[in-house]
Amino acid sequence: MSVIDFHSHILPRADHGSDSVETSCRQVELQLGSGTDVVVATPHFYPHRENADAFLTRRARTAKKLCEALPKEQAARIRVGAEVLICPGIAEMEGLDLLTVAGTDVILLELPFTHIGQAMIESVLEVRERGLVPVLAHIDRYPTEPIEELLRQGIMAQLNASAFAGLGGGRRFMPHVSNGSVVALGSDLHGANRREVAAFVRARKKLGKYQAEVFERTAELLRGATPLSDFVEQPVPVVKQA
Ligand SMILES: [Fe+2]
Repeated sequence: MSVIDFHSHILPRADHGSDSVETSCRQVELQLGSGTDVVVATPHFYPHRENADAFLTRRARTAKKLCEALPKEQAARIRVGAEVLICPGIAEMEGLDLLTVAGTDVILLELPFTHIGQAMIESVLEVRERGLVPVLAHIDRYPTEPIEELLRQGIMAQLNASAFAGLGGGRRFMPHVSNGSVVALGSDLHGANRREVAAFVRARKKLGKYQAEVFERTAELLRGATPLSDFVEQPVPVVKQA
């Protein structure tokens, strides 16, 4: 079993997750030092703030900085994705397919924290119809109803480690874990935050007998994903305009 942190903000200054290369290196050191084998870097992409080209350029630049600063064996354990904010019509966005975890068709989608109406649900389903493999980010942070609707439609989900903290210790999410809807666990790490890394370790334990199953599903999704060390050698993709 490979322990995989599927959601973290560790690219230096790619978003508010890390303010410097030093912070990013510390983040990776904390993650890998706590028993995590593979980390997916998922910087925020906000479609209302920038286009895919601008994001891809920034992601490539910051990924390179991190790769150059990390020991080779650590860089080989990082994968590069994005956390894409869903908005109506995003399935038609040029370049959406370039925001997957590099080397896969898997795309981490974040729902807005405002009202999640039918249009938003449809948007997630349209991303799948486009041929991508959506995973809903931190389903623990949203109202139950729209999430359950999406899971009923067969959409996969990621839980944040923090879902397992506090009262109940994540018990209410266990049905989604045991029926296979939850395919990944994430620290959603921002900053070199020891507490968030420790929460990830605790969440793994709370998954109990399902821990191996969840990480096996994640490993399956990440099959063929490009390690950071190879990612930085590839040219930055350019979005084809229609
Ligand atoms: Fe996040």
